[in-house]
Amino acid sequence: MGSISGGKQNLIIVSNRLPLSVKRVDGSFQSSLSSGGLVTSLAGLTKSTQFQWFGWPGLEVRDLGDREEVSKSLEAHNAIPIFLDSTLAHEHYNGFSNRILWPILHYQSGVTFDDTPWQAYKRVNELFADAIVESAESGTLIWVHDYHLMLLPELLRHRLKQQGKACAIGFSLHTPFPAGDFWRNLPVRKHLIEGLLSSDLIGFHTDEYKQNFIDTCASLLDARTEIPNQIQYKNRLVCTNKFIVGIDPQKFTDTLQTPKVQDRIRTLKERYKGVKVIVGVDRLDHIKGLTQKLSGFDTFLDDHPELQNKVVLIQVAVPSREDVKEYQDLERDLCTMAGKINGKHATPEGTPLLYMHRSVPFAELTALYSVADVCLLTSTRDGMNLVAFEYVACQEERHGVLVLSEFAGASSFMSEGSISFHPANTTEMSEAIFKAITLDPSERKSKYEYLRNFVNENTR
Ligand code: ADP
Ligand code: G6P
Repeated sequence: MGSISGGKQNLIIVSNRLPLSVKRVDGSFQSSLSSGGLVTSLAGLTKSTQFQWFGWPGLEVRDLGDREEVSKSLEAHNAIPIFLDSTLAHEHYNGFSNRILWPILHYQSGVTFDDTPWQAYKRVNELFADAIVESAESGTLIWVHDYHLMLLPELLRHRLKQQGKACAIGFSLHTPFPAGDFWRNLPVRKHLIEGLLSSDLIGFHTDEYKQNFIDTCASLLDARTEIPNQIQYKNRLVCTNKFIVGIDPQKFTDTLQTPKVQDRIRTLKERYKGVKVIVGVDRLDHIKGLTQKLSGFDTFLDDHPELQNKVVLIQVAVPSREDVKEYQDLERDLCTMAGKINGKHATPEGTPLLYMHRSVPFAELTALYSVADVCLLTSTRDGMNLVAFEYVACQEERHGVLVLSEFAGASSFMSEGSISFHPANTTEMSEAIFKAITLDPSERKSKYEYLRNFVNENTR
C-alpha cells in the first residue's frame, strides 16, 4: 500500500476485505495477497496515492498480544485491521453479505431473509464506523467500498457530526445494482438505500447499475431525481457517477518478461502444440456461470467431433466463500460435471477439460493467459469482471479472442472487441467458441486493438 510519510493523512479506504488476508500457520501469522476484483482494482492506486486501508483481517484474533502482532505486520502496508469475533464475522460475511445480499444484487432468486445475520450486519457496520471515526480528522476523505458496508456512510456521518469532524464520504459499489422491482425482494431494502444516501458521492461500474439505483431511490423513498445523476433526499444532495475500474496492465507485461514465466510459456506451448487453448479464471461463484460454461463447452464438443483432441478448456476455479452451503453445493456439482464431460469426450490422446479447483500463483496465471487462444467468461451477472482485462493485457503477441457474456459489466465497454453471447444459451455459447477459434487473423487483430486500447486507457 502507499506509504504515508508523515504529514496529514487525507484518504481512508474501507472495505470488508483487506488487500492482505491473514492466516494462522503453526502458531504464527502469515499474510498473503487477497484475491478478487475489488483488491485488484484498488491495488494500483498505491502507485500514485497515499492512504490507510481499514478492513477485516479474515480471521478471529482474540489475544491482545496476537492482535498487536497482526496489526504490526499489516502496518507496513498501511492496512488497519478491524478485529471481529468469529460468530459475528461469520453472520455478517457468510450469513448476510454472501447468502442474502450478494445473490439479490446479482438477480438470483429464492433468497430467504433471516434476522440474525441482519443484526450482525448492522453490528459490524457500527464497529467499522467506530474505528474509522476515531482515526479520521476533519478534511479526510473516507471512501467506502462494496456491499458488506452499505450502512456505513450513514453511521459515519452521524458519528462524525457528533465529534465535530467534517469529512467527505464516497461509496463505490463493485457489484451490479439490480432493477428496482428485484431489489424489493430484500425486506431491509430501505435501510440499505438510506445507509448509502449519507454519502456525498456514490459510484457504480456501469450506467445501467447507476440508473437502477437512482430509480430505486425515487420509487422506494420518494427521493427527488429530476436532475440527472443527482438524488435529493432529506435535505441532502447526493451525486452518483459511473467509474470504470481497471487493472495495472504493466504489472502483467512486466511479469510476462521474467525468465520464469517465459520458461513456463515455452513449456505450455510445447505441451499444447496443435491444440487451441481456451482459458477461464473465475472465483468459484454462481454468478460466474460455471455450470453454464461447462454445459456450453459440452455442447461445443458435441457439435464439433472434428475438433476432438484439438481444443482444451483450462478452467481455474478459485476457491471462494467455502463456508457457505450454496458455494459448497456448486463445487460438488462442478466436479461431477467436469468428470462427466471428460468421461464423454476424453480419448487416450487427452482430456478436453482441465478443471483446477485451486488458487494459482500470479506467475502461472499470467503464463496461462498468455498461451490461451481464447478466454471464455460466462458470468450470469458480474459487476465488471477484471479477468477480461487481465487476459487482454497478456495477449499483445497472440491477439487472443475474448468470448464474454453479455451480463458481465465489462461487456458494456468491451462488446465491440469481443464475441458476446447469452450464458444460458448453450448453442449460442458453442457457436461463440467456434467463431473465436476460427476467427481470421485480421479480425482478431482489429478486435484485439480495440480491447487493448480500452484496457490501457482505463488503468488503475
Ligand atoms: P471477482 O471480483 O468477482 O472475483 P474479477 O474477475 O473482477 O471477479 O476479479 C478477480 C480477480 O482475482 C482478478 O484480478 C484475478 O487475477 C484475481 N485472482 C484470480 N486468481 C487469483 C489468485 N490465485 N490469487 C490472487 N488473485 C487471484
Ligand atoms: C467481489 C466483491 C469484493 C470481494 C471479492 C472477493 O469482487 O465485489 O468485495 O472482496 O469479490 O470475495 P471475498 O468474499 O473473498 O472477499
